[in-house]
This record gives sequence, C-alpha cells and structure tokens, in this order.
Amino acid sequence: MKRREFVKRSCAAASVLSMLPIMQSCMDNMNMSMGSNAVTVKEGLFSSALSFPSVITSNFSMNAKGNAAGLLNNQTTRVLGYSGGILGPTLKVDRGATIPITFQNNLSEETNIHWHGLLIPADVDGHPKNIVQSGSSFNFNLPINQRAGTYWYHPHPHGKTARQVFMGLAGFFIVNDSEEQALNLPSGDQELLLVIQDKRIENGQLNYSPSMNEIMTGYTGEYILVNGTYAPFHNVATRQYRIRILNGSTARVYNIALNDNQTFYVIGADGGLLSQPAGVNSLLLGPGERVDILVDFKSYAVGKEVYLMSKTFSGGVQGQQDFKIMKFVVNRQETDTFTKPSQLSVIQPIAPGSSSKTRTMKIKGMMEGMNGNMGGNMGSGMHTINDKVYDLDRIDETVIAGDTEIWEFDNSDGDEIHPMHIHGVQFQVLSRTGGRGSLVASEMGWKDTILVMSREKVKIIMTFPQEKGVFVFHCHNLEHEDDGMMLNYKIV
Ligand code: C2O
Ligand code: CU
Ligand code: CU
Repeated sequence: MKRREFVKRSCAAASVLSMLPIMQSCMDNMNMSMGSNAVTVKEGLFSSALSFPSVITSNFSMNAKGNAAGLLNNQTTRVLGYSGGILGPTLKVDRGATIPITFQNNLSEETNIHWHGLLIPADVDGHPKNIVQSGSSFNFNLPINQRAGTYWYHPHPHGKTARQVFMGLAGFFIVNDSEEQALNLPSGDQELLLVIQDKRIENGQLNYSPSMNEIMTGYTGEYILVNGTYAPFHNVATRQYRIRILNGSTARVYNIALNDNQTFYVIGADGGLLSQPAGVNSLLLGPGERVDILVDFKSYAVGKEVYLMSKTFSGGVQGQQDFKIMKFVVNRQETDTFTKPSQLSVIQPIAPGSSSKTRTMKIKGMMEGMNGNMGGNMGSGMHTINDKVYDLDRIDETVIAGDTEIWEFDNSDGDEIHPMHIHGVQFQVLSRTGGRGSLVASEMGWKDTILVMSREKVKIIMTFPQEKGVFVFHCHNLEHEDDGMMLNYKIV
C-alpha cells in the first residue's frame, strides 16, 4: 500500500473511533504525505566572520556545560559546549599516541562522549550504557591506531543524543599520520575545518521539539550554521584550500556544491584519504559523514565571492531547496605552488570472497514500520532495524573478532533517508542498488557512515577488530536513533 493511501485509510478508521491523539498524528502525516519537507532555509547576509573552535594538541580536558553564545545578531542564545560557547575544541593527535582525556559533566542531565570513527576499545567508545551522570567525571584513555582522518565526537546517551548534539555538543577529532604529512596538502590558513549544522531558533533561543512528523522526516532548522556561526563569510587567497566538512546536523542532508558549479576534488572520506582525488560538482553529505575536499580559488579575480551551497536533490523527503551555506571572499593575490597529487594513498579493497557471513539489516521508517496495525508503531519505536527497537541490554548481532563480513542495509521499501553508522570499525562500500544505483566519490574510501536514500540497498564489507566488546550501529538521523533505530553488536 502506498503511504498516502495507507494514511488516508487509517485516518478514516481513527475518526470513526474518535481516537483524537491518533487523529492529530494522522493529520501531521497527511501534511507530510502531501508534500511537507525539510523546513525552508533562511539564507542570511553572510556578513559575520567565520570562526573556528580552538585547537588542542595536549592536556585534553572537556567540560560539557551550558554557555551563552551569540548565534543570531544581537541575541544571547543558551547553548551547550565542551569549553566556552557552542561546540567543542578540535582535538589534534598523532597516530600511535595514547590520548588521556578528562571529561566533566556539568550538564543538569546525564551524557557521555562517543568518538565517532575511532577504532578504540568498547569501554571508551561511549556506548549508551556507559553514562556519565550530572556532576560526575570520566577519564578516557584513547589508543590511536588508525589512519589519519577527520573524525569527531558527540554525546550518545540513549534518547537524548539528538537534543544534546542540537544544543551544541560536538567537535572535531583529527588524526595525523606520516603518510598524509608527506603529501604536503594545503595546511595552516589553507586548511579549513567546517561543521555544518541546521538549527531551529525561536525568539533567539534554540528550539528542539520534534513533532511526530518531524521524527519521521528528521528535525530540520531554518538557520544553517558553520562552526556555530550563522551565514558566515571567510576571506581566502587565490590558492587551493583543503576543506574538511562534517555534517553535524541531526537530520539534514546537504548536496555540497559551489554556486558556480566549479569542480572540486574529493581527497578523503570518513576514514581518511582516498587513493586518488576525484573531481565532482556536487556531493551528498548525510548526518555524521565527513568529506575532505580541495577547492581551487586560483582562477578567481580578487574581489570575487564564491558560495558553498547545498543544491536540490531527490531520493527522499528532503532536497527541494537550493541554499547558500557560507561565502568565500577572494580578497588577496598569493602564489600557490601546490599541485594536487595524482596518488594520495593506497586502499586495498577487501575481497568479497573473504567474507564469512552476509547479514541483511532491514531498515524501516515510520510508515513501513506500522505493519498495517492502527498505531502499531506510532509513539516511540517508529523506526526499526530488522523489526527491532533499541534495547540497551539485548545483543542483536554477534560477530567474531577479526572476521570479515558483508552487511546490507535495505531501505528498498522506504521513503525516508537513513545515514547508517557502525561503531568500532571502518568499512568499504561494495554496491548500491535502487535509488541512485551507484557509489559516489567519497564512497571509494574508508567509511563509518553510509547514506541510504529512499529505495536504496547498500552493501558494505568490513573486518572487525581483534578487541572484543559491545558496540552499537544505528541510523545517524539522530531523531531516528533516539526513536530506537539502533542495535547492539558484540565482538566475541
Ligand atoms: Cu556519531 Cu553512534 O554516532
Ligand atoms: Cu560513531
Ligand atoms: Cu534513519
């Protein structure tokens, strides 16, 4: 049955029984099926200077707390952050180091920190069971044994992740290594770290209050912030820039592009460098995903303004609007001697034949999850994986340490967008069928989060680490995650 038809029929049934609360959600759903979409973005003036979180390379100490920030002009907004203001510091570490991090929870509720993309032991991964109570602290010790890459961190307390991230708790975790160093990629002023997040702001305050309809599509905001600044600009020279972008939004997908359609080069993905740069004009970036790109401002005249934007796209309940994210102002002439390497790294493909098991993960959104029963999956638990809603204590999948497996995320019946993420491993993408029908440039590298658009089925392959423990995998649409679209897997 098509969604709209289903909604109509079950709403008729509800009206007969005068089930008012269900009627209300039916009306929300009718609106949605009649074309409501992500909230319309309000482009700003691009007159605030882009700022960057502080960078720390030693004495790592994080303090989750409430702060005041100026997100919109002349208004003081209450936010959360890991130091002052919104967001948290950028942690920069070298491969091979072991990083002690002290963490203090000064929020009025429980939280924890998950190190997204890091291959670390289960007891420091920020599993939703490992909670730090309000007023308590926790000392992490993170062994860094993985490729250089753009990783990140954020809270992971079950049912509260979306709100805490939305309120401002997130930051970059950058790993450097000698392989990447040797490429002499643009650095210093020519390397920019950008976290893109949409916020809903009412009367100057962040407003996180998703309706049932918004739990379905994801909670989207009308203000697009980069590094916590709404509609910023940044001055650049006539040079090539390395720009690392994190989509730190709870649900919004961006189709990253430049307003003049200039080709940019994807050099890295979630788990570090690709083998070769890949030129593209646009790239979909789902919540939780990162992309590392080279943008060339050499050919522009001084004075030129270039926008980073999101272009329209299809494949789900978003993408109906083109909007600008930030402005680059070419404000000075400089000589650039950097030449883009033709080879960046070596990525040894994992042979599908080495897989000992294939698992299918049927991902279901609100409508597909209703099983034809009136209200069957309404309320919490509207989003499921293999028909299950998250249970902190239940082990859903058991895998053998060191084994290679193929997992297939199946959204072939779904209308919603699901960026699927697995803790504890980096994977390679084998195929996408249905929907877009092929892989995109960033999917040629190591990934920890994979965008599964409406009607798509995506196959990935990975080798689990030797270290044993319980990790989660889930949808990184954080409304879906909090609604229960998450399972535990155990490495034994
Ligand atoms: Cu960034 Cu479990 O997530
Ligand atoms: Cu993660
Ligand atoms: Cu989802």
